Amino acid sequence: GIIILDFGSQYNQLIGRRIREMGVYSEILPFNTPLQDILAKQPKGIILSGGPSSVNAENAHLVEKELYEQGIPVLGICYGMQLTAHLLGGKVNKGEKGEYGKAHLEIVKESSLLKGVTQNSIVWMSHFDEVGALPAGFELNAKSGVIASISNEDKKIFCVQFHPEVSHTEEGGKMLENFVFGICDAEKNWKLTNYIDKTVEEIREKVGDNKVILGLSGGVDSSVAAVLIHKAIGDQLTCIFVDTGLLRKDEGQKVMDNYGEHFHMNIKMVDAKERFLSKLAGIDDPEQKRKIIGNEFIHVFDEESHKIEGAKFLAQGTIYPDVIESQSVNGPSAVIKSHHNVGGLPEDMEFELLEPLRELFKDEVRKVGEELGIPHHLVHRHPFPGPGLGIRVLGAVDADKVRILQEADDIFIEELYKNDLYEKVSQAFVVLLPVKSVGVMGDERTYEYTAVVRSANTIDFMTATWSRLPYEFLDTVSSRIINEVRGINRVAYDISSKPPATIEWE
Ligand code: XMP
Repeated sequence: GIIILDFGSQYNQLIGRRIREMGVYSEILPFNTPLQDILAKQPKGIILSGGPSSVNAENAHLVEKELYEQGIPVLGICYGMQLTAHLLGGKVNKGEKGEYGKAHLEIVKESSLLKGVTQNSIVWMSHFDEVGALPAGFELNAKSGVIASISNEDKKIFCVQFHPEVSHTEEGGKMLENFVFGICDAEKNWKLTNYIDKTVEEIREKVGDNKVILGLSGGVDSSVAAVLIHKAIGDQLTCIFVDTGLLRKDEGQKVMDNYGEHFHMNIKMVDAKERFLSKLAGIDDPEQKRKIIGNEFIHVFDEESHKIEGAKFLAQGTIYPDVIESQSVNGPSAVIKSHHNVGGLPEDMEFELLEPLRELFKDEVRKVGEELGIPHHLVHRHPFPGPGLGIRVLGAVDADKVRILQEADDIFIEELYKNDLYEKVSQAFVVLLPVKSVGVMGDERTYEYTAVVRSANTIDFMTATWSRLPYEFLDTVSSRIINEVRGINRVAYDISSKPPATIEWE
């Protein structure tokens, strides 16, 4: 496959996904992975990613220079281009003001990388430093105000200052294909059906006739992991589903129907509603609520897992972005890890880990899920935070407020599906405010709670905008909530972006 060395650019995972979409395996490794280890993987090509640092900085992120001498094609993107120029004897200057956004690519001399790319196509720039002088043996291929692309065809080293992986770069896909197929001659052998077969075999081999437990949350990752493992070892798998009382309306029943009934999986449903609610009584600080819910989850899960005799493996729905985040040289970034969705499990559990989705990006997990027969709407669910409605009932949580919120949230989500909007937004939910206001219903004055409808669009959940949902739609949602949910007499729509707001309210 293709190895991507990670220098910390926010687009790195995108490079990996683009290549896999072409049917070629890609792997993202920290930039300082020893050359030996990289070569051991017999890569067809190596991509040096972008990154926030400067090659001229004191502790600049470098690679071993011998990397360029292996006869393996190299593509340097942004920082990767500057690094290549720097290491091979060119010069990198501090940019005067940096360049962010669209630029036009003026091709001076076509390279194998730019083959078939049209003149003046738009490319996406995001850099501060720039290459000032080419290393010996390199030629200039394209300009865009700055030096935009250089190469050494003999040594199969290609560099671009812009980001071919982002969709704003009009012909970026063609360039990556030129690299992967034209230059690296990589094989198309990454297919998710193969992945399923291979993984099923691996699970059988690893588990033998031992038992496996898995914390099923109803979310995408743990559900796909469960169905995949179940396909491999059937009833040797027991899923533990903890009903915290803070889940969406009828979630427990739905999980039993969708996975217990439909897939005939062993699911142990633990009704822990009382435990969670009594621990939360009177607590209104969000961080304290998170801590209580997280701890309680660990207790309940620990107790239940000990009731399952002879369980040797603990399965988790860890996915590739979680793995990349945790191995990242810049330290785990602020991206919320999906394996925290179940609340986080204790580190001293005496189980061996089984993580069959470790190699997959989220969109691949979804495809695997569908391939395994999980309905489309289930593998395309929005993310749901581990603490659940515990942080969507603002302030102190009680059973009544949770019930009110569940009803309102269910109406909003139902309407999103009905109007074909659910998959057009990234995350949508209702928040219940501890604020009462006056209303009038029939002849009666009401004095009830306020609900806030929240919907966000985002790619990475680090930044987000509020969804521009149609007024008519919002009107329907508002009327239905106020008319159908006892306890709410006013609905507001959240029009805050992140930053400075967050997606959740607590
Ligand atoms: P914010 O509110 O920080 O949310 O913009 C970003 C994403 O993270 C989710 N989120 C959480 N997920 N435990 C989780 O598992 C949490 O405590 C938590 N807080 C926020 C949020 O739903 C959104 O997808």
